[in-house]
Amino acid sequence: MLKQPNNLVVKAKAPSNIAFVKYWGKYGVQMPLNPSISMTLSHSYTETSWELIKSDSFSLEVYLDGELVPGFNKKITKWFDLLFTLNSEDFEFLKTSKSIIRTHNTFPHSTGIASSASAFGALAMCLAQLHAKLNSRELEVEEVSELARLGSGSAARSIEGPFCEWGKSSERYASAIKDIDTKFQNLKDAICIVSSKEKEISSTIGHGMMDEHVFKDARIKQANKNYHDIINAMQNGDLMEFGRILEQEALSLHALMMSSHDSYTLLEGNSIELIKAVRQWRQAHKEPLFFTLDAGPNLHLIYPASIEEKVRSFLSSNEVSSLVSNIIYDELGSGAQVCN
Ligand code: DP6
Repeated sequence: MLKQPNNLVVKAKAPSNIAFVKYWGKYGVQMPLNPSISMTLSHSYTETSWELIKSDSFSLEVYLDGELVPGFNKKITKWFDLLFTLNSEDFEFLKTSKSIIRTHNTFPHSTGIASSASAFGALAMCLAQLHAKLNSRELEVEEVSELARLGSGSAARSIEGPFCEWGKSSERYASAIKDIDTKFQNLKDAICIVSSKEKEISSTIGHGMMDEHVFKDARIKQANKNYHDIINAMQNGDLMEFGRILEQEALSLHALMMSSHDSYTLLEGNSIELIKAVRQWRQAHKEPLFFTLDAGPNLHLIYPASIEEKVRSFLSSNEVSSLVSNIIYDELGSGAQVCN
């Protein structure tokens, strides 16, 4: 290892992503029970700076929008511990440093935009820069995705874009998917906020419930088939088949939560009303507007840019306005970046 300078500052930003085929359940050290696919977002991202100050011992301060948030230390310290076990030599420098992490999200909290994906995406990009400076070796993109995965599984898919898969070619890292039909190359995501209440059950706890889930084997089978079929649909330009799988995946995720041993529900009444409204609108207009859901009540509406105007007019109707408190318009993005 190179001699560590007294002070280093690195910066990066990483987008969130929304899964089409959902990662739900894990084993071992953050390995997914099933393969997943996602769309990398563009405007919803986390910007992070990481200051590393040489010290005798380890310490960590995390600031969100300028405010110290000691609550974040637990998840980041757990991440460091995993890095030390799996890659002890490379990240030794963290043990003799004070890390000051300053972070900002471009999107509001608890909106159904996965902040752990963008947060650990940005942290992994920063850590890769510290690693390059102190071990004089640039990490490959797969290694950065692996670092992100160890912090939060879905973060593995936030390093590259516009579409990523994780758990098929490798369980350790995500990779960009190639040869997608042009019909999918300008997808939009209108995130409809039904409720911004804090989640009662975290995704990490939800994943744990899959260990003993009565539908575990059936879910793994379903996700593998959906993974295969959705890639085919995306490569063949079949938007309707893509949408069918997208919606089935979203509702299967919530059905798994509802049928867990300790059953729980994250959907709200208005989530269901909006699902019905989207399906009716699609039927009436014969246009490819589909919904998906994260682990929360808010809908992500996915559609090609060609119907943007029609979708905006539907979303500004009284019918939709009475169900949602806010809409965030996002679109396909190209992945994480180093900031200077
Ligand atoms: C429903 O990546 O947030 O969004 O690995 O425990 O941090 P941890 O979980 P997380 O789980 C995300 C689950 C999901 C589906 C998905 O993004 O694939």
